[in-house]
Amino acid sequence: MVKELRLALIGFGTVGQGLAELLLEKRDWLRAAYGLDLRLVAVATARSGFLARAEGLDEAELLRLAASGQPLTAYASAEVKRWPTVGEGLAATGADVLVEVTGTNLRDGEPGLSHIRQALEQGLHVVTANKGPVALAAHELLALAARKGVHLRMEATVMAGTPVLSTLREGLAGARILSLSGILNGTTNYILTEMGQGRSYAEALAEAQRLGYAEADPTADVEGYDALAKTLILAALVFGLPLRPEQVLRRGIAGIAQEEVRAAQAEGRRIKLVASLRLRGVGGLSQASAGGQAAELPVEARVEPMALPLDHPLARVDGVMNALTIESDTLSSVTVIGPGAGRRQTAQGLLADLLAIARSRS
Ligand SMILES: NC(=O)c1ccc[n+]([C@@H]2O[C@H](COP(=O)([O-])OP(=O)(O)OC[C@H]3O[C@@H](n4cnc5c(N)ncnc54)[C@H](OP(=O)(O)O)[C@@H]3O)[C@@H](O)[C@H]2O)c1
Repeated sequence: MVKELRLALIGFGTVGQGLAELLLEKRDWLRAAYGLDLRLVAVATARSGFLARAEGLDEAELLRLAASGQPLTAYASAEVKRWPTVGEGLAATGADVLVEVTGTNLRDGEPGLSHIRQALEQGLHVVTANKGPVALAAHELLALAARKGVHLRMEATVMAGTPVLSTLREGLAGARILSLSGILNGTTNYILTEMGQGRSYAEALAEAQRLGYAEADPTADVEGYDALAKTLILAALVFGLPLRPEQVLRRGIAGIAQEEVRAAQAEGRRIKLVASLRLRGVGGLSQASAGGQAAELPVEARVEPMALPLDHPLARVDGVMNALTIESDTLSSVTVIGPGAGRRQTAQGLLADLLAIARSRS
């Protein structure tokens, strides 16, 4: 028997459209292999508001409207109902799962934080790629989800669809995680890789912008805020620690000169922007202790450029690739390497979370 999971998709930009494409492409296969029908019953954008159709929306038509620059309100069906905001639309309709993929805002997590809170309050499962709400309020939101007996899953927030959160929580179940160190931002890794090949910081950044890897305002990437957000998410999920941004030592790559990259290479090292979480008392890469961190925190959290020896698993992870090295009491070191961004790659993370929710319901 085919089971149905009804989705409300909030945000129809790069990632929202990527998920719609995967739903279309994999519909028959998901029915055959998983006995599952993932049905899109609502979609929302800032420009068009919240649109819902109980019988389901046609992803191909939504993608056609988006590709031609038209608002989703041009969707041709008399049965589509519309509300100006997500709050009103959700309250009036509902679904089984809210997929939250509005833009990341690391100041206050909005608008995603309100969307996720409301959905959990209404008893919907939530799947998100949006780092803001879970970096800033994972504890509150996970507790709310537990109270309501629903899932809050966020695989795509760290390394997009590359399965690091499920590796940590499910694959490594029972292991005691001692430390995590990762290259969690593809833009900065691309810039550092290019600098290793002779480009200046300014040239490498301009090339990253030309290729669409870096935003016009690259601050969130190059100053380490994006990696910091992922560090907060990992701290909450792996160590159960509600870290605040100011409790993570953060240094970006903007101040790095080409000479430093070359000098490191001459010593057989590679400079990488490394995000790390380490249980105190466990040895690690960093020599100095993180200034400004409360000594009583059980975990040391840092985002900083480091000159890694070539035999370190992260040293040869180049370009926009991401990687996370996990040290545990049972497996010593495991490294997961893969894409950390992209339309299809991020949608894969959402899809995996949706399938995990569907499995838990059967
Ligand atoms: N792109 C990636 O490779 C990637 C990878 C991992 C994680 N992520 C995360 O995934 C999320 C989505 O990224 P993206 O690249 O798809 O962003 P995007 O292209 O900027 O799309 C954001 C979408 O959210 C909609 N939106 C904004 N405010 C809204 C509101 N109040 N109500 C309803 N919809 C609203 C926008 O509406 P309009 O269309 O009207 O502007 C747009 O459709 C972000 O949080 C990002 O950090 C992205």
